[in-house]
Amino acid sequence: MKFLIEGGKALSGKISVQGSKNSALPILAATLLIKGKSVIHNCPKITDVDAAIDILKDFGCVVTRSDRTVTVDASYVKNCNVSDYLMRRMRSSILFLGPVLSRLKKARFSSPGGCEIGLRPIDLHLWALRLLGAEINEKSGIIDCKAEKGLKGNRIHLSFPSVGATENILLACVCAKGTTVLSNAAREPEIIDLAAFLNESGAHIYGAGESTVVIVGTDSLHSASHNVIADRIVGATYLFSSAITGGEIEIDNIIPTHLESVFPVLEETGCKIKRTDTSVFLSSPERLSRVKSVRTLPFPGFPTDLQSPLTALLSVAEGTSVVTENIFENRYKYISELVRLGANIRVEGSSAIVDGVKKLYGTSVCATDLRGGFALVIAALKAQGETVINNIHHIDRGYEAAEKTLSSLGANIKRIT
Ligand code: EPZ
Repeated sequence: MKFLIEGGKALSGKISVQGSKNSALPILAATLLIKGKSVIHNCPKITDVDAAIDILKDFGCVVTRSDRTVTVDASYVKNCNVSDYLMRRMRSSILFLGPVLSRLKKARFSSPGGCEIGLRPIDLHLWALRLLGAEINEKSGIIDCKAEKGLKGNRIHLSFPSVGATENILLACVCAKGTTVLSNAAREPEIIDLAAFLNESGAHIYGAGESTVVIVGTDSLHSASHNVIADRIVGATYLFSSAITGGEIEIDNIIPTHLESVFPVLEETGCKIKRTDTSVFLSSPERLSRVKSVRTLPFPGFPTDLQSPLTALLSVAEGTSVVTENIFENRYKYISELVRLGANIRVEGSSAIVDGVKKLYGTSVCATDLRGGFALVIAALKAQGETVINNIHHIDRGYEAAEKTLSSLGANIKRIT
């Protein structure tokens, strides 16, 4: 599958963004904890959500979907395995480990391999689950877990504020015996959204979104419904898509406080930002200015998921920008594809040195991963002539119908299957 993009048109208009992939996935995993129906609204139509639904069905859940509402009936969960196929299809399936262990007291998962952006170890997840009383054996690619006496609350300090480990700990602790005090927890908005859903279902989580979170275990959770928050990464990606073309764009359902680290970077490029509590309006200059230095950090720092879209944006800015990736060790694979489009970027250690060029030229390129794939789209929207982007299944993992949204803003883009 590929995108054909004819660059050079200014992208302007008003859009709403999809529900957050990185919120919907842990919330769908959380539905395993509820012996009844959970109704999740605003689930994006993306292939990672399709994969999560298939895993829930594999566990014995009855899952129905109407438009962007997913209803999960987890009354009868029987299977506790995640096969190699399912794990390789979506490595964030590791988020099901905590809830399965909590509910069934055992789990047998194929270990999630690395992916295009790094080794993606899960040592922090397993270390924390052992602290909660799980017996875990890792052998020949299989993770065998047992907690016959159930999980027990404990004091846990994460050496790194891992998003996934924080989520797995919340999912494992809400029905554990006793209280868990988690310090150096991830503070991403998706953690707050997961905790909101769990608390709506009867959990007792205090301080989600802060560095220290307290979870008081409860016997059981009950049915609830929840609206997934808007996807901050997708929203910012479309701001960048308009900014590179000299357009102006309004996003009417985003939460601006989720992007506090991004707005100053856009303003340094010369863009103007206006915001209300629930919307953002961006207008952009004819030629963007460089950004001296951006480094990715855990929330509330600049998000690693925007590193590649930002590098694409800066590839045509006037001057030299430096973008440093501090979260993943291999998140620059897309740069060689940007260079094929005429960008002048070199990678030195964990930094990309971006010498802005006046023009990019359309050609054939390949998406390497989800966000790096969209970085190529952003560059193609500016490039002179036609760009073919191959392997767009990477993009479909996290962006719902990207070509429809971009066309609504005036882009000349076609999906070729
Ligand atoms: C989540 O991944 C997101 N995925 C990622 O989004 C996002 O980039 C990342 O958080 C950081 O914000 C989902 O939410 C599904 P981490 P996760 O655990 O949980 C190391 C996207 O594009 N680490 O915070 O895997 C790890 O190797 C995706 O939507 C360990 O060393 O991120 C990485 O260097 C990509 N041991 C760093 O921590 C562990 O046990 C951050 O990882 C866990 C993580």
